[in-house]
Amino acid sequence: MSAEPAVPASAAAPQPAELLLAGVGTMGRPYLEAAARLGLRARAVESGATWDNRPTDLAERFHRVAGDREESWAGSVAAAVAERVPDGLIGFAEPQVVAAALAQERYGLRGPSLHAAVVSRNKALQRSLFGAHGVPQPAHRHVARIGDARAWMLERLPVVVKPLNLSGSEGVELVRTPEAVEEVVARRAGEGQLLVEEAVDGPEYSWEALVREGEVLFENLTAKETTPPPYFVELVHRCGHDPDPAAAARIRELTSGVLRAIGMRTGLVHLEFRMSTTGPVLMEVAVRTPGDYLPDAIGLTYGFDLYEAVVRLSLGLPLPDLPRRPVSYAATVFPTAPPGTITGITGTERVTAHPAVVRVRLRRRPGDTVRPLTSSGQRMGHVLIAAGSPVERDDAVRFVRETLRVEVIPAGPVPSGRPELFDGKGA
Ligand SMILES: Nc1ncnc2c1ncn2[C@@H]1O[C@H](COP(=O)(O)OP(=O)(O)O)[C@@H](O)[C@H]1O
Ligand SMILES: [Mg+2]
Repeated sequence: MSAEPAVPASAAAPQPAELLLAGVGTMGRPYLEAAARLGLRARAVESGATWDNRPTDLAERFHRVAGDREESWAGSVAAAVAERVPDGLIGFAEPQVVAAALAQERYGLRGPSLHAAVVSRNKALQRSLFGAHGVPQPAHRHVARIGDARAWMLERLPVVVKPLNLSGSEGVELVRTPEAVEEVVARRAGEGQLLVEEAVDGPEYSWEALVREGEVLFENLTAKETTPPPYFVELVHRCGHDPDPAAAARIRELTSGVLRAIGMRTGLVHLEFRMSTTGPVLMEVAVRTPGDYLPDAIGLTYGFDLYEAVVRLSLGLPLPDLPRRPVSYAATVFPTAPPGTITGITGTERVTAHPAVVRVRLRRRPGDTVRPLTSSGQRMGHVLIAAGSPVERDDAVRFVRETLRVEVIPAGPVPSGRPELFDGKGA
């Protein structure tokens, strides 16, 4: 663990503790805002892609990453830490998780552990380790090329094919028929290693938790509503889900098993599972900030700032008692429209004026193209809701869907033979 900041020999007032944030973009800013509120000093490592928009008012210094690979992040984080070891270091998202964990391990800073970070970045490694720890997960094969899994897939349809370390559902594909097996084997022959899994049926949830030295200090369940198969694009996240006691016990078994298996120490965990008829089955685990504005929705649901809690955890600052029960029921809703060209968007003002609507953020305007909704990247923005009860939240979700209308001139017929893609995070 990091030592207390040394008091200079001159007995001048000690410097405030310092946070180093790896990866800011837009979604990471609340970490720097929390640091400012806490009176901390802050530095950040930022990519060239978002360099021009870096919030220079929120950090004393930015270190620029040359490139966007994990190795580039690791190099820049290492250089920033070598320049001065911060009191806390947070890796914002997937590309920064291992970079941060390497430096945390090297300098004794708080973090999820290098083990957890590395395992979380590779879906096949997750499956291998979780198998050894008895975590319920889909039957699977990790193959050098997809053709090696042909017979296995034919015996277990429907199955899911996925790359080992992409995210946002890129390349995650449901395969349902023998003909589709032949098609996918031919189409993805050149891809190299892949993971092939039995498709698990049942509603999907995510579990977000704050963990300190392996102990869960706060947890939230998020219920996901997606488009129907084949694409499973996430349309609504409802936080503060309250399962019945039997389900809650099974979920606790799953989450604690995963934390043990990855050797989770300190930080934020985002775990996805499906509730099958035989109980919860793990999809995957991440040790980073969840996407889809979930930290905002979780903060509204429980009435505290999740980002600030993560900053406190990373610096070993005291945490107030964290809430166990929702004080509000938040959701993020992703509006949809059929493919085509947008001619008009109506109802935005009425939606914004609804008492349960916290904000409306649309990324499309008239003239823009709407593509078929096959992944979260194609979604056109989001609406954040916070209501007094789950029923009022459902009313608000319905109101948003009925009121926010996106008119389009339809596109031509959608080409057939496209892969069936699952969706993940990221819009
Ligand atoms: N074995 C599976 N059975 C059923 N659904 C799956 C399976 N694997 C993935 N999915 C679906 O695809 C989504 C994306 O897959 P995931 O492994 O989480 O990859 P990503 O890192 O892209 O999010 C999951 O959230 C889930 O809805
Ligand atoms: Mg996922």
